[in-house]
This record gives sequence, structure tokens and C-alpha cells, in this order.
Amino acid sequence: MPFHCVSNYPQGEQTMNIVAIQGSPRKDGKTAQALNMLVEDLVSKGHDVESIAVVDHQIKGCIGCLACHKIRDVPGCVMKDDDAPAIIDRLVAADAVIYASPLYAFDLSAQLKALIDRHNSICKWSRPDPVSLFEGKRVALLVTSGGADTEHVKGIFDLMFGRTLKATVIGEYFLPFSFRPDFGERARMTVDAIAADLTA
Ligand SMILES: Cc1cc2nc3c(=O)[nH]c(=O)nc-3n(C[C@H](O)[C@H](O)[C@H](O)COP(=O)(O)O)c2cc1C
Repeated sequence: MPFHCVSNYPQGEQTMNIVAIQGSPRKDGKTAQALNMLVEDLVSKGHDVESIAVVDHQIKGCIGCLACHKIRDVPGCVMKDDDAPAIIDRLVAADAVIYASPLYAFDLSAQLKALIDRHNSICKWSRPDPVSLFEGKRVALLVTSGGADTEHVKGIFDLMFGRTLKATVIGEYFLPFSFRPDFGERARMTVDAIAADLTA
């Protein structure tokens, strides 16, 4: 189940409605640890944050039928037998989305990749009048990894979320060497940077 946090923050401050997608199958792993720090930080600053762990949900791969592109202003995925349409609706409604993943075989986790493929219903690129329901949405990627070779996933956010979905890409943030004892310290610095960039 997703958890939902709202803090009591002085009224009049500019706050955002943010969704944090935890893309690791390990619910208490390094990715969750870093993302939870970020969520707590954002909640303490008054933002309304919903965390969704992909492992808690059934998300099937996109079948590429493009039926969703026949309808313009809503996602309209015809695969109704899993949790992706409800999650996608939630993402479309958010001001900002943070995607977090462990590096698996130099790529995003399969669980998160399945959800990102289902974003096809957000961007109606095959229409004569293409539209993206993510236009201008603030998005960020956080990746934790055992080693430091992250080249394969660097830039995918600019391609997929910036160029295709026309979102505002805040950045791709990498936390390598997640087995080292200073991980928590480095995670703190990285999440501080994400929180500052996302809410700037
Ligand atoms: C199936 C699998 C594949 C992995 N592939 C890579 C990899 O290609 N490169 C890397 O640096 N680390 C790799 N790792 C290590 C993870 O990226 C790293 O431990 C990560 O911080 C785990 O996050 P988690 O605890 O949230 O699952 C892999 C781990 C697993 C279990």
C-alpha cells in the first residue's frame, strides 16, 4: 500500500503535490532508504508527498496496442486488469514525480521499467495532433548502484521524460557504491540536492 504524508506547514508557502515512485523490489534496501530520506525532507518542508512502491503493485508490460492514443485528453489505457492505470492517473495529477531505482544490469529495475513503458498512455505521440499529459511536470530520477558504471542510464530521462513526454527534467542523481559504509552520508547530500532542485 502507498503511504501518504501531509505536514502542517505555515500557510502561504508554495507547496507541491509530489509522488515518489520506489522502483526497487527490496522494500528496505538502499533505494528505499535514500528515497525515504527525500520524502521526509520534502514533507518537513510542507509538501504533500505520496510514496508508491512498485513492488506492492501488479504492473504488466505495455502491449503496444496504441488504443490509448485514440483518446486525447486522458491516459485511457485499455489494460484494466492491473494497477498501472490508477498509478498513471495519480502521476498525471501530481506537480512533480520522483522515480527511484536500483541499477540492475546497468539499467533501471524491470519493475520500474514496466511502469515507465505504461507512460505511453500519457504521451499521444502517434496522433496527428500529438499531446503529452506530462507537459511541464517536474520529474527527477534517483539511481543507487553497487558500482559506478551508470553510463547506460545517463540521459534516458532527457530522452524519455524531457524530449518525449515534454516534462521538465530536474535532474538524474546517482548514488554509486551503495555497499560502502558512507552511503547514508552521501545519500543525505544527494537528497538535499534533489529537494533543493525540485522545489527551486
Ligand atoms: C539483479 C541485480 C543486478 C544488479 N546490477 C548492477 C549493475 O549492473 N551495476 C551496478 O553497479 N550494480 C548492480 N547491482 C547492485 C545494485 O544496483 C545496488 O546494490 C543497489 O543499491 C541496490 O538497491 P536496493 O537495495 O534498493 O535494491 C545489481 C543488483 C542486483 C540484485
